[in-house]
Amino acid sequence: MTSLVLSASRILLIIGGGVAAYKSLELIRRLRERGAQVRVVMTAAAQQFVSSLSAAALSGAAVRDDLFSLVEEAEMGHIELSRAADLIVVAPATADLLARMAQGIANDLASTTLLATDKRVLAAPAMNVRMWLHPATQRNVATLRADGVAFVGPDEGEMACGEFGPGRMAEPLAIVAAIERALTRSTIIPLSGGSPLSNGSPSRGPLTGKHVVVTAGPTFEPIDPVRFIGNRSSGLQGYALAEAAAAAGARVTLISGPVGLPDPPGASVIRVETARQMLAAALAALPADVFIGAAAVADWRVEAASDQKLKKDARGAPSLSLVENPDILAQIAATSPTRPRFVAGFAAETENVVENAKRKLSRKGCDLIVANSVADGSGVFGGADNEVHIVTASGVESWRRMSKPEVADKLIEFVAARMGSA
Ligand code: PMT
Repeated sequence: MTSLVLSASRILLIIGGGVAAYKSLELIRRLRERGAQVRVVMTAAAQQFVSSLSAAALSGAAVRDDLFSLVEEAEMGHIELSRAADLIVVAPATADLLARMAQGIANDLASTTLLATDKRVLAAPAMNVRMWLHPATQRNVATLRADGVAFVGPDEGEMACGEFGPGRMAEPLAIVAAIERALTRSTIIPLSGGSPLSNGSPSRGPLTGKHVVVTAGPTFEPIDPVRFIGNRSSGLQGYALAEAAAAAGARVTLISGPVGLPDPPGASVIRVETARQMLAAALAALPADVFIGAAAVADWRVEAASDQKLKKDARGAPSLSLVENPDILAQIAATSPTRPRFVAGFAAETENVVENAKRKLSRKGCDLIVANSVADGSGVFGGADNEVHIVTASGVESWRRMSKPEVADKLIEFVAARMGSA
């Protein structure tokens, strides 16, 4: 259960006052079983929902809640709390806490720590759907995103207040995945000027002035209104590429299949479900300088998906007739006035990884194929790491196993060099 990224990481968890606070106790357990050290700060409102005793027992450390406690401030002041963390996670991030963060209000230990920190902050919002959709909350979220705060969720669904819509806090395991992603990036946000991604302004880098289109995640091909054909792609590799391209100065359009990941900073995200929708979004995003197809696009779809849920009856299992989906990568790479200057695809293989990738390079007409093994036990689908081979017309480079954001950074560097602008 130990996670390479989380093991020995130090998470400062700020629990805000919302019904979802009970899920934060589960989050502490999940983080600790993966080897993370967790310190907890609770707001006064949070203690109306869960006890600091439970949070202390689960985290194995005293819970902090009082800015003015002489004893606690002498032992570990609010500045120390932030210094001793690799990442600050706010869960649940209530409307009130988000508003105070956006305004820079420091009127309790949680908000003072958040104002005083130079560490990355990940917020998991949770509130009533109307509060979430209120323009004031959306303004605050936009301000915080521009300040470099990352978000996970909120999810959509039935809420404790009986309403339905976005506002439920992301599930603990989704927050754990977002934490792992955040930890693989530099954890400090510089004080003056901010990091290129943290202040929301476009960063300058080797891809400044370029438009990069990335596809990520799986596609879901409907069988009927409730069932689909899908695959195990989590979107982690594609999202990391979008983030790395934005950090390199590019304007980034990320076309994403159905995944549960937060929008990468600096990218405009278009969400689609099927291969045909992904193709339409990719063509609409052109012109682009670079296209990277990291999505695991379904090769086939059901020829005639049913409008109604298929029923189990005496006739037995239905037979599904499949037809081929369009090949997005091949279409984008096909010579035309809108062909991006550099087209890269991936090859997800279970055998003969490099040989199959070489064939895809010429069959699909791309400039580069990133070959990775998705054989049983590789842990690439949905995992934190990847081991890739870079296949071009001039040869093959094999890279050591590294985190997906590291693969993304290196790949964007490689592409920028090929574009002649690095
Ligand atoms: O999402 P993660 O969990 O992080 O996992 C990452 C990954 C394994 C999904 C990723 O690294 C990867 O390999 N993506 C490509 C998966 C895939 O569909 O490979 P393929 O060999 O079947 O397709 C080859 C290329 O053609 C890919 O660039 C694919 O996007 C593209 N393609 C495939 C079929 C199709 N109809 N249209 C396409 O554009």
